[in-house]
Amino acid sequence: MRQASGKKRYIPALSFRWLTPLYDPLLKWVMREETFKQRLIQHANIRPGMKVLDLGCGTGTLTIMLKKIHPNAQVTGVDGDPDVLKIALDKSRGSDIQWDEGLASSLPYPDSTFDRVVTSLVIHHLITDDKRLAFKEIHRVLKPDGELYVLDFGAPHSSTTRFMTTYMRRLEETADNFDGLIPRFVAEAGFGSVKEAENFVTVFGPLSIIQAMKGT
Ligand SMILES: C[S@@+](CC[C@H](N)C(=O)[O-])C[C@H]1O[C@@H](n2cnc3c(N)ncnc32)[C@H](O)[C@@H]1O
Repeated sequence: MRQASGKKRYIPALSFRWLTPLYDPLLKWVMREETFKQRLIQHANIRPGMKVLDLGCGTGTLTIMLKKIHPNAQVTGVDGDPDVLKIALDKSRGSDIQWDEGLASSLPYPDSTFDRVVTSLVIHHLITDDKRLAFKEIHRVLKPDGELYVLDFGAPHSSTTRFMTTYMRRLEETADNFDGLIPRFVAEAGFGSVKEAENFVTVFGPLSIIQAMKGT
């Protein structure tokens, strides 16, 4: 497992490190994670032999699902927190997944490495400048015909979901997400065909899947 260095502001999986062991049960039972992670994988249109990066893989639930559904893809999970990576490694014993420590703002991969980058519930952990840097880094590590799929909090589509965001927008770095700025940041990083592929309502607020292509 490769190690990251030079960390600055960093928000772990459940904001505080001592809550990390509760992350998997919370996502499974309260947030219906299986539903929207399955949809993210379906949208990503992964084919055999493709190289796929799960950015901010956390405890590896999405990464492991991805590898089970696409056993012939080369799957890598990267996260800035060595503690969650240990959980991911334990959960994935026997499967051929590469786990790396690294930051979204300086990914430890050469240019044009991956066919797909997926990322789930990570972008709202990053301050605005780091969100922009992360999308530039994703653009750099994708192959020329590569595609990005982002699952995260998104713009509300109804007055009920807008109301839900009034509290949530004060937590972590979610305000950009609820203000609908993620597609703009993705486009500014150089991506084309940026669009919201699907949205969901969860107890924590509205989620969107944003898809984008490196080539236009
Ligand atoms: C809410 S968890 C999501 C984990 C997983 N993707 C999922 O959907 O269950 C957010 C993850 O982002 C990681 N993270 C936060 N800031 C990061 C950064 N700057 N670079 C890389 N990973 C980061 C955290 O360590 C954490 O594992």
